[in-house]
Amino acid sequence: MMAPPLPLTDWPEYFPFLGRFLRSPRTVGALAPSSKWLARAMVVHVGQPSTPANPVRPVRIVELGAGTGAFTREIVERLGSGDRFLVVDVEPGFIECLRRRWPHVECVCASAATLPALLGERQIGPVDHIVSGLPFASLPAETTRQILDAVGKTLRRDGTFTTFQYVHSYGLPRAVAFRREMNALMGSTPSLQFVARNLPPAFALSWTNRRADPARPD
Ligand SMILES: C[S@@+](CC[C@H](N)C(=O)[O-])C[C@H]1O[C@@H](n2cnc3c(N)ncnc32)[C@H](O)[C@@H]1O
Repeated sequence: MMAPPLPLTDWPEYFPFLGRFLRSPRTVGALAPSSKWLARAMVVHVGQPSTPANPVRPVRIVELGAGTGAFTREIVERLGSGDRFLVVDVEPGFIECLRRRWPHVECVCASAATLPALLGERQIGPVDHIVSGLPFASLPAETTRQILDAVGKTLRRDGTFTTFQYVHSYGLPRAVAFRREMNALMGSTPSLQFVARNLPPAFALSWTNRRADPARPD
């Protein structure tokens, strides 16, 4: 029997998400939650079997800009025992919703720019995987700069940073500049996966950090 097709967005979460977009368009940065197709492309590195680059469990995973949890759900399904998973979003309404859906997951209402302090308070060492749903295309440039600084301070060598860019804005100067900054920060270029079944279609981009391990978080 054929599996039913997956929808282009998470319809039960669509209206709450849209409501928050209408109140804070630059912060939410999208009209609809990501589809399961995009979510699966975003978590390819989470839950992978051990390799020299990803040697042993437990792994430390951070999700930035979780919204209603399109990526969170996929990450939770891939967690192993002892793994640490921290979810960060700046919108209190989204965090409430995430805590209701996954009471066992640590969800914190804060800016992604404060990631080094958030990890330090929880004694979580350099992170293996950062999955970001942050709307870099609409965030103020200074906020993006602070967040990338936080990523550079917390992602371990050979750890991964995964984000997405919508196809219609992929060639815009801001999106190109963002990729250039990430290339410099990670010392690598991203792998790219095109996801047609999303509203709107998007690329999932994943960098592996070739820079030295960061110092322990503040
Ligand atoms: C485009 S939505 C993505 C939501 C979800 N990951 C998805 O793909 O459906 C962007 C999310 O980033 C959050 N956000 C925006 N700026 C942030 C910041 N500085 N720190 C943490 N979260 C932020 C918004 O509240 C929103 O939930």
